[in-house]
Order: sequence, then C-alpha cells, then structure tokens
Amino acid sequence: MHFESLDQYNSLQTPEIDTNQVSCKYVFELTPKELEFIVNKSESNRSLEYHDANYFQQKAASGAMLLKQWDELVGFIFEHNYIYQGEPISERWTLWVSPKLRGQKMGAFLMHSMTDKIRDKPLMSVTNVPVVQHINQTIMDFEVICPEWSFRSLVEEWWPIHDNYRIFINNKFHDLLS
Ligand SMILES: CC(C)(COP(=O)(O)OP(=O)(O)OC[C@H]1O[C@@H](n2cnc3c(N)ncnc32)[C@H](O)[C@@H]1OP(=O)(O)O)[C@@H](O)C(=O)NCCC(=O)NCCS
Repeated sequence: MHFESLDQYNSLQTPEIDTNQVSCKYVFELTPKELEFIVNKSESNRSLEYHDANYFQQKAASGAMLLKQWDELVGFIFEHNYIYQGEPISERWTLWVSPKLRGQKMGAFLMHSMTDKIRDKPLMSVTNVPVVQHINQTIMDFEVICPEWSFRSLVEEWWPIHDNYRIFINNKFHDLLS
C-alpha cells in the first residue's frame, strides 16, 4: 500500500486505534533528547547497528524522518549515503517503530515516505528482517539475486550477506549497473 500523506494513513485506521496524535517530521538535525533516545534504541535492538550520538547527528544531516505521538518519539528512519565508483547511492537506514504502534503500518509509512524523498537517486536495500523485505517488495523495482549480479562485491563491501538477506534496488540503481 502506498501512502501519499500521514492524513491518508490516518484515514485508513480503524477508530479504536489511536494514531490520530501521530505526526511525521522530516528533519536534518536532531535534538539532544532525540539523539539520546535513538542511540539507546540502536544499542538495545539486535536488528539495528549501534552508533553514538555524533554518528547519528552526522547521518541526520542527510535527512531523517521522525514519528511523534504527542511529544514522544515513536518511530524513525534515516537516509544513508555511499559513493560507489563516483556515484552516490542511497539507502533507507535504521528503521524503528515503537512496540506499542507496531502492526499498524507505521513501518511501511516511514519506508514509503523516505523512499519518496530519495527515489530520484540510485537506491539499494539489503535486509534480513522479514517485515522490511515484505515492504520492499511493494516499493522497490527489482529484487536482485546476488550471485547473478556483478555487484556482489559492492554489496559485500558493506554487508555480510547470508542466505536470509534479500537485496532490492530501484530503477535508478539498475540504470547505473547497465
Ligand atoms: C520493522 C518494524 C519497523 C516494522 O514496523 P511495523 O510498523 O510493525 O510494520 P508495519 O505494520 O508497517 O508492517 C508492514 C507490513 O509487513 C507485514 N509483516 C509484519 N510482520 C511480518 C513478518 N514477520 N514477515 C513478513 N511480513 C510481515 C505486515 O503484515 C504489513 O503488510 P501488509 O501492508 O501487506 O499488511 C518494527 O518491527 C521495528 O521497529 N522492529 C525493530 C527494529 C528493526 O527490526 N528494524 C528494521 C531494521 S532493517
């Protein structure tokens, strides 16, 4: 499902799910309180990479999307950039949604919204998290079977690819390879 806006997302929700007070912000700088929260989540979640506050602040400079319920941070996603053979490549990175809001398409909303911001760039997504793989099937243009592609070394430069990892790319990334 594709969401054009948070209003559209909210309108799809059943009345008993209280997501009305959830708002979405696209930012390039994080407050000390937001940084502390994100660092803690990166430390306690096995699916996320741990980094310190300086690192997350640097990453936020490329763009981060924050979900807030009232004043509480309940979700986030970052843009992550690489340079490959002189070409900038983007990835959505460090997706997290509060356990109390999971299963209500907030993760999908954040992934769609971030993809909309960066869809004009070559975009790659490598993940072993089933829910993220599922959402990627609806957003990305190609799923890549790694051994068939010459960029195996590119991917493995950053990721320890195992059998349960799946790789998705968009049209722009595909153009770059061909
Ligand atoms: C991953 C995470 C962000 C998902 O958030 P969420 O808001 O619960 O996800 P959504 O409700 O948007 O789920 C979206 C879709 O995934 C599906 N889904 C949920 N769990 C799934 C699973 N285990 N396998 C496959 N699909 C799954 C849902 O049914 C839904 O599909 P639909 O739109 O076709 O109905 C959340 O679980 C989280 O923060 N986890 C900890 C951090 C993490 O793992 N981050 C990802 C790092 S790559």
